[in-house]
Amino acid sequence: MVKVAPSLLAADFRVMGAEIERVAAAGADYLHFDVMDGAFVPEISFGSGILKWAAKGPLPVDAHLMIERPEAQVANFAKAGAKIITIHAEAGGHLHRTLALIREHGCLAGLALNPATTPDCLRYLLPSLDLVLVMTVNPGYGGQKMIPECLDKIAEIRSMLDRAGSKAMLEVDGGANTVTAAEMMRHGADVIVAGSALFGADDAKGFIDSLRASWRQLHPEENA
Ligand code: DX5
Ligand code: ZN
Repeated sequence: MVKVAPSLLAADFRVMGAEIERVAAAGADYLHFDVMDGAFVPEISFGSGILKWAAKGPLPVDAHLMIERPEAQVANFAKAGAKIITIHAEAGGHLHRTLALIREHGCLAGLALNPATTPDCLRYLLPSLDLVLVMTVNPGYGGQKMIPECLDKIAEIRSMLDRAGSKAMLEVDGGANTVTAAEMMRHGADVIVAGSALFGADDAKGFIDSLRASWRQLHPEENA
């Protein structure tokens, strides 16, 4: 079954705790926590100090580090309570070493790819990965439209993972609504990040249920 990860970036920060409870009650699986440093991406969002509080809620935290030199922050985010730590392929540094460091800290290790990045960089990293994150918008802002060209990349990575017998999750992030999320799943996504569409929905449970219904249609074998 698809997993749904609401992006906290789209929540009402005045009542962060209540917002997390609300999406958890609606059936979310993870809390997607977008970290921006004003260097790798233009905006600054929040860091491990806030994550520590977010992690006290009911959802495991999926930290998406849109930052330069992520290796310097892994320990902080792990200590703060992140379950998944995802770094960007384009952030440079020694990706293999940083992914190993994430696992050494007891977290699941993820690698994110910007829209312009080809999947080739995953080839020798597959055994080091618990998650691949395909960005379907340019990172830095919530509320953008999905870039449709990225859908084929999801399919390409899906077959890469399947061929290698990898159990890594395939998460897709950016511009998900009930229609685009169905497309993402049809191309092989099994974790959907949703920010503005989910937090903005009057009925968060209805939104998540609709994603699950699309998954069931695509995977009738799971209903048997
Ligand atoms: C973009 C972030 C996304 C974003 C998703 O830089 O990584 O997680 O907040 O938000 P929506 O669903 O509104 O595109
Ligand atoms: Zn994100």
